This record gives sequence, C-alpha cells and structure tokens, in this order.
Amino acid sequence: MTARTWLPIVTVVAVLAIATAVLGADSTPPQVDNPVGKWDDYELIIQVDVPLRGTLRRVYVDRVSAAQARRTGQLPYGTTIVMRDYVGVPDGQGGWKAENHRLVTGTPIVVLVQQKQKGWGLGHPESIRNGEWEYALFTPDGERLPVDTEKACMPCHKRYEATDYTVIVGNYFTDQVKK
Ligand code: HEC
Repeated sequence: MTARTWLPIVTVVAVLAIATAVLGADSTPPQVDNPVGKWDDYELIIQVDVPLRGTLRRVYVDRVSAAQARRTGQLPYGTTIVMRDYVGVPDGQGGWKAENHRLVTGTPIVVLVQQKQKGWGLGHPESIRNGEWEYALFTPDGERLPVDTEKACMPCHKRYEATDYTVIVGNYFTDQVKK
C-alpha cells in the first residue's frame, strides 16, 4: 500500500481518537482472527451512521457466537466482533447519499476486531487488561496493522466492563433475551 492510499485511512483513524498508539509497538496478539475475506462466517448486526461526519460503522459478530448469545444474552468464548468503518458516498450537494434513511457505504477505511478466548488477556497488566478480550486492527484488504492495543484499545473499552468490554454488542444481545 502506498503512502497516498494510507492518508485517508490514517486521517479517519485519528478522528476515531485511536491514532496515537496505532503506529506504536506491535503487541497485537497474532491469534486474533482476521475476518477479511471470510464475511460469510459473520453476521451484520448493527450499523452506526455518523451523518455529520459522513462516516458509518458496521458491526458483525461471528455466526456461531451470535446464535449462542441470542439464547443466553452472554458473549461466549470464541466471540469475534468486527467493526468495519467506511466513508459515505457524497450526494453532490454537500451531504451524503442515503438509502432508507441509512448512509450508503463508500470507501472502506479500517477493520477493528475484538475477540474473547479462554485464558486470553493474561499478558496485560491488571489495570489495563479487558478480561479475556484481545484486539486487532486490519486494513480493508486484510493486512494486519501494527497496533499497541494496551494503549490504542483497552483503556477505553475497559470502561465498559459491565457489558463485557463491548460498547453496543453486549447490550444488543442482552436486550434480545429480555424481549
Ligand atoms: C476512545 C474510546 C475507544 C477506543 C480508544 C477504542 N474504542 Fe472500540 N468502541 C468505542 C465505542 C464508543 C464503540 C461503539 C461504537 C461507536 O460508538 O461508534 C466501540 C466499538 C468497538 C467495537 C464493536 C463492538 C462493541 O460494541 O464494542 C469493536 C470491535 C471495537 N470497538 C474495537 C476497537 C479496537 C480494535 C480498538 C483499538 C484499535 C478500539 N476499539 C479503540 C470506543 C473506543
């Protein structure tokens, strides 16, 4: 990938406030699954639009864990949550194209992953670790990006301990079970 194609990616990652550590030390655990190209194994559960910014995020969960979480309200070991970030498609009038009141996906920017496996997370200090979750970052083409997840991901997600270190996905399944 050339520096030129990188520019928009880096810009939007900065907007997401995770840029500071993205180019830091590579402590990405190799075992976090790379979902790119295996989209059939994942279910799209949520799309979050940010119309003012013209960006959107699509959140996927691996099908096996999603089926189990729908029954139990808990995210089982093996849960792999994937968030694909995109820039929308300009509508030519200073806004962004929408279909059925949702932004239309344009350029893909980055793929964020969090995955939980039994016994994971032990390598991180207690004050930082997110239970048994590990994190990873990929380009839209599936290239693993070097990222110090202890700095770039865990401190913020740690705030969401009550929902198993997820921001929206944990509640999504808990709410389904209550219905
Ligand atoms: C500043 C806080 C913050 C940082 C840093 C952060 N996230 Fe998140 N993350 C969020 C928020 C907030 C959401 C919910 C989606 C939204 O509001 O856009 C989210 C959602 C997610 C999701 C979807 C599942 C869920 O509900 O939590 C994944 C996967 C994810 N982040 C991975 C990562 C990875 C990988 C990193 C590090 C490269 C990272 N995040 C860094 C705040 C953060």
